[in-house]
Amino acid sequence: MATFTNLAGLAGIYYGGCELYGACASVSLRGRLCIITGAGSGIGRLAALALAAEGVSLALWDIDENAVQGVGKEARALAWEQECVRTYSCDISDRAAVREAGARTLSDFDVAGVGKELLLFNNAGIVSGKSLLDENFDEARAAKTMEVNGTSLIWVTRAFLPAMVAHGQGHVVTLASSAGLAGVAGLVDYCASKHAAVGFNESLRMELGAQGHKRIFTTVVCPSFIATGMFKGAGMPPWMRTVAPVLRPEYVVQRIVEAIKRRNPVLIMPRLGYLSPVLRATLPTVLYDWVCATTGISSSMDNFVQTRSQQGARSKL
Ligand SMILES: NC(=O)c1ccc[n+]([C@@H]2O[C@H](COP(=O)([O-])OP(=O)(O)OC[C@H]3O[C@@H](n4cnc5c(N)ncnc54)[C@H](O)[C@@H]3O)[C@@H](O)[C@H]2O)c1
Repeated sequence: MATFTNLAGLAGIYYGGCELYGACASVSLRGRLCIITGAGSGIGRLAALALAAEGVSLALWDIDENAVQGVGKEARALAWEQECVRTYSCDISDRAAVREAGARTLSDFDVAGVGKELLLFNNAGIVSGKSLLDENFDEARAAKTMEVNGTSLIWVTRAFLPAMVAHGQGHVVTLASSAGLAGVAGLVDYCASKHAAVGFNESLRMELGAQGHKRIFTTVVCPSFIATGMFKGAGMPPWMRTVAPVLRPEYVVQRIVEAIKRRNPVLIMPRLGYLSPVLRATLPTVLYDWVCATTGISSSMDNFVQTRSQQGARSKL
């Protein structure tokens, strides 16, 4: 118990420090160009609306053309100028399509000419939620999950990083997951892809630092379950929900926008999640697995149901 209290205290000091530093360092986003992948629904859609209201130009990408055009309309109603918002139909797991949409985005917004500061929000993601031993486990879907949530980060980021370097500034935000910090039963392929996303962000930050690009920032976002419909039915048991609730999408987006303004390198939600890497690193595995089983983390996917939006994305993949 004493160890747990000490760890909670350390996490509190760390988190409080981040908040204090961040509060002092908040910057305006007005005039930047933000590219959002998976902008057609959920977090991507809400981020587009929040950033449009902040005076940010938007390049909205999604595999679902109708959905992203609808979000484009909503964002234009909030934007400072109509031409500040453009939509692009792009499957980010298709390297050639990403290269093409990337070049088109840079040219449409005349990024080289105007010298706009870029903000890339790697947000698109998919989930299957099937156990490896499930007779309906879909190998093609698992491979696609790795591509969309993991490897596509490389193509999409490469499409915009040279422009950030040329401008001497930029910010790459990667929406990973708490499933990128811990393992969860029933989410093997998803967790593997989100661990890849966390590793991608960590290495990118190191690489940018080592190469002297001090004004290109990175933020990795690791939320637990969010009520967007992607993880319908999943969540912690009721007795854990006061400390680990299913997060409201509006709250998640508000925290992400704050983290971008403050250039926070890491954002974990809910706050209890900051303990996750600490516990994994300090507890013996057998004890760690026991904590996950007794708190309900290991059974959090038991009531998961695949939603229409995910099946919709699936049919286009
Ligand atoms: N919802 C949660 O509980 C939760 C928790 C932690 C992390 N996340 C992550 O947050 C991100 C957003 O999730 P959400 O809840 O808003 O999901 P969502 O399903 O509402 O939105 C995902 C969007 O990505 C798009 N998309 C899917 N495949 C694509 C592809 N190949 N190319 C381009 N676009 C594609 C979909 O069309 C959809 O518009 C995802 O990366 C997800 O893994 C979600």
